[in-house]
Amino acid sequence: MKILKTIDELRDARKSISSNVGFVPTMGALHQGHISLIKRARLENEIVIVSIFVNPTQFLPGEDLAAYPRKDEADKKICEMCKVDYLFMPEISTMYKEEETLVKASNRSYILEGKARPGHFDGVLQVVLKLFGLTQPTNAYFGKKDAQQLLLISQMVKDFFLPINIVECEIIRESDGLALSSRNVYLDEKQRKDALLLSKSLYLAASLLTKEEKDVKVIKNKIYEVLQGLDVEYVAIVDRSFNELEEIEIGNSIILLVVKFGQTRLLDNIWL
Ligand code: PAF
Repeated sequence: MKILKTIDELRDARKSISSNVGFVPTMGALHQGHISLIKRARLENEIVIVSIFVNPTQFLPGEDLAAYPRKDEADKKICEMCKVDYLFMPEISTMYKEEETLVKASNRSYILEGKARPGHFDGVLQVVLKLFGLTQPTNAYFGKKDAQQLLLISQMVKDFFLPINIVECEIIRESDGLALSSRNVYLDEKQRKDALLLSKSLYLAASLLTKEEKDVKVIKNKIYEVLQGLDVEYVAIVDRSFNELEEIEIGNSIILLVVKFGQTRLLDNIWL
């Protein structure tokens, strides 16, 4: 595995590749969720590029940029183990110079996650577009856990005619159901236990569906019942364009929720 730090190094590496490239952009602190993306990229492409870059433009003032977990040495070992060909680990000054061109996500980026974090998705799209330009992947891998991010990136690829296939990857969970997230390390013992209610409420919603219950109001109420006592930021049931639904449409519905545990916001969702 080659570790690349500069734009020139990445460009030179990319020029030497004529086969399929699978790209997994990350902010590091790699866990099983990332590993599953990398493994899938490894299976489906001749060359795999992973990036680790804690992107400052997607953090709002006061968010956990400084405290965001950084585990460079462990991450390098994981990438080595997963047989990554190139690991791109740029500095902030490498990725951001004095630039004037900004990417503006659609209005759909200002609801749900974007309501709590206005401008967050502009920063995500900005860096992902830069990384796409540098790595020119055939396939790029994103987890369904960050559903809104995934769908906004797919929209950007479509709008800018980028010849990149966005691969939607399933959420990876602990054996007890907790969706993997780099932020899970912030949870204390009680919060970790309470956090299990997120997946429990989503599984309950899915089980209601199997009983033909499609009414969004009924399903939301059941979810809120399970999450009672927790600091729920939102529960939303939307289609893939983020329109609120009144009735679940199988194949085109996502239930998204965010619960706060102190400063830590945990996201979970289920695609129906
Ligand atoms: O999902 C993430 O880790 C980040 O938002 C991404 C896509 C790597 C962009 O910084």
